[in-house]
Amino acid sequence: MAAQQVRGVIAPGKNEPVQVQTILVPDPGPGEAVVRVEACGVCHTDLHYKQGGISDDYPFLLGHEAAGVVESVGEGVSEVAPGDFVILNWRAVCGQCRACRRGRPWYCFDTHNAQQRMTLTDGTALSPALGIGAFAEKTLVAAGQCTKVDPSASPAVAGLLGCGVMAGIGAALNTGNVTRGDSVAVIGCGGVGAAAVVGSRLAGAARIIAVDIDDRKLDTARAMGATDTVNSRDTDPVEAIRALTGGFGADVVIEAVGRPETYKQAFYARDLAGTVVLVGVPTPEMTLDLPLLDVFGRGGALKSSWYGDCLPSRDFPMLIDLHQQGRIDLAAFVTETIALDDLEKAFARMHQGDVLRSVVML
Ligand SMILES: NC(=O)c1ccc[n+]([C@@H]2O[C@H](COP(=O)([O-])OP(=O)(O)OC[C@H]3O[C@@H](n4cnc5c(N)ncnc54)[C@H](O)[C@@H]3O)[C@@H](O)[C@H]2O)c1
Ligand SMILES: [Zn+2]
Ligand SMILES: [Zn+2]
Repeated sequence: MAAQQVRGVIAPGKNEPVQVQTILVPDPGPGEAVVRVEACGVCHTDLHYKQGGISDDYPFLLGHEAAGVVESVGEGVSEVAPGDFVILNWRAVCGQCRACRRGRPWYCFDTHNAQQRMTLTDGTALSPALGIGAFAEKTLVAAGQCTKVDPSASPAVAGLLGCGVMAGIGAALNTGNVTRGDSVAVIGCGGVGAAAVVGSRLAGAARIIAVDIDDRKLDTARAMGATDTVNSRDTDPVEAIRALTGGFGADVVIEAVGRPETYKQAFYARDLAGTVVLVGVPTPEMTLDLPLLDVFGRGGALKSSWYGDCLPSRDFPMLIDLHQQGRIDLAAFVTETIALDDLEKAFARMHQGDVLRSVVML
């Protein structure tokens, strides 16, 4: 099969700097699509890949928060066609597994990626981050990973729904089932947590408490709809959240950091029978120690949010429409747009907390 050469960003090995390299993108086979990437956001998960926190399958082709235009499709692809403006998703549901057959496709246990591999010019197979690999001019995905949305939306904004922003909004709407009148606390207000604030506001939460250790993140969270902010560097967040909720704790607490200590804060900052949503991703060595009696005695639900329990075909077009109508502001997540060669700098800025999202424009 023919392949085309494009530029892409790879992580060659654990903690090594990323490199822009020529990669080979095969023509799409059955069920696959090649997408000309227009924009791809920098997510913390890309940094986790680079640092070895996800797996050891180096080299990785990084990038997974992307929008672009379908260039070509393989045999049997009917859901998208060349020229379609799409957001890429990393959970293309199979329709066949037990979760899908029970009508809960957002839990799909057999999500699809492209069968063929993209490679370096010497033939080394690349592991695309989350089965996407979109810090590249073009990428090969399963056609089901492409969701058509309103082409008048900006690619930089649309791409963000492909991961962090969808994960955060979905953590509130889909996993946490936040509804009007609820009190919500969000611990960690980076791209994902700030999106959880936006989702909670959209759902009609009465009180939305943003918690972070960085005042800049608290300022953006407030601009996006947080009613209260707590800097947990100098204030006990559990006490503060209780004080702001009449002594009870929040109905829903969303953890968007992915660490045992912030998870514990979430656990104790919710009201009896409340819900904890873990959307932050822990690393393999982390463990959690909690009194089992507290787990029982405090009741409620302890949930994890895979990709905001989203269904791309349902949620992406809806959220793009709400954005285009001005009912949610997704453009506020784009702190800066950068070039493919600037990724290492963008990681540093993310690490220092300078950005909500840097978006690579291609
Ligand atoms: N579940 C999913 O499907 C999904 C999808 C995307 C990202 N994620 C995960 O969500 C997490 C957040 O991602 P992001 O892109 O928003 O990262 P980010 O770096 O933009 O944000 C992290 C935020 O947490 C804050 N923080 C760090 N330590 C803290 C502490 N002890 N207390 C309070 N706040 C603290 C930081 O100041 C920062 O604002 C990551 O773990 C990422 O891997 C999960
Ligand atoms: Zn399935
Ligand atoms: Zn991501």
